[in-house]
Amino acid sequence: MRELQGRSILGINELTADEIRFILDTSHDFKRKWKTGELHEYLRGKSLAGIFATQSTRTSSSFETAMTALGGHMLWLDKSRIWAGTAAAESWPDTIRTLTRYVHGIAYRPVNRQMLDLTEELASVPVINASCPVEHPTQALADVMTMQEHGGGSVKKAKVALLWGYGELNPPCGLPNSTLAMATRMGFDVSIACPEGMDPDANYINAAMKESTAGGSKIEIVRSYEEATKDADFINVYSWVSPEIFAEGPETGYRGNPEFAKYKESLKDWCVTKDIVNTAPKSVKVMHCLPAAREEEVTSEVLDAPNSIIFDEAENRMHTIKALLALTLG
Ligand code: CP
Repeated sequence: MRELQGRSILGINELTADEIRFILDTSHDFKRKWKTGELHEYLRGKSLAGIFATQSTRTSSSFETAMTALGGHMLWLDKSRIWAGTAAAESWPDTIRTLTRYVHGIAYRPVNRQMLDLTEELASVPVINASCPVEHPTQALADVMTMQEHGGGSVKKAKVALLWGYGELNPPCGLPNSTLAMATRMGFDVSIACPEGMDPDANYINAAMKESTAGGSKIEIVRSYEEATKDADFINVYSWVSPEIFAEGPETGYRGNPEFAKYKESLKDWCVTKDIVNTAPKSVKVMHCLPAAREEEVTSEVLDAPNSIIFDEAENRMHTIKALLALTLG
């Protein structure tokens, strides 16, 4: 296993199964310590720059509280605090080269993947992807940790039904891509139910399908919820757009593109209801990375049901991020 210390983590696709298991084992250990009040200040005196170019509740709060629990500190750097992107327009290279004189790592949520790659090239400290249009690795780690907790410890041979839901927001497919990369490494099956035209990144689908043969996991894309929920252990709901649609730019959607608006309108029935959940085995657990478009992509009846594990999933963002930070910045 390659050292994690000093490494940037931009995607699940750059981690081995052993490395993921090590991060998850550390996450469970940190969660136990956090619950019992046992100190785990492995980053005492260290600082992280948290740069968020778009809104974030869970990821940003998880990085910040993780640094506190590890005895370190996160600088919250949104566009109201730094010169880059303002009228003064300090260059991004000057910004990153300056910051790396102060901090031991950078958590970055960019608007596009190119900015993340550029930042990683410029930085002399590890850069952690806090969600970009191509991958959302910290979410995928938390999802698997939560599945382990609710699935008897192992996710091998578990089946995840990843259900596309209609939503007004048009986020990119970073989470489905990371889930596909995670599945082949951890040996669980993924059945993605999404409408035609909303498939995740073809590179991730093709890689997962190729790797699944070797790893024993089954990956499929289907066009109805029922095909995916059959035999599912976990239902995970998310509302993404394909990379092709996302590439059209932030104005994609109701304001900018009448054709897209018409297409989205035709997908309003893609809402995960209790009836859909009932097509899965009774033991199925419901997940969502949040924020959820309640009553659009999934009903509140589903999100607030006893088999919903969405807030365990949200909490585990912090524990997995803590592990990732301790192992890369420690
Ligand atoms: N799941 C997730 O990434 O949430 P935030 O956008 O609130 O960080």
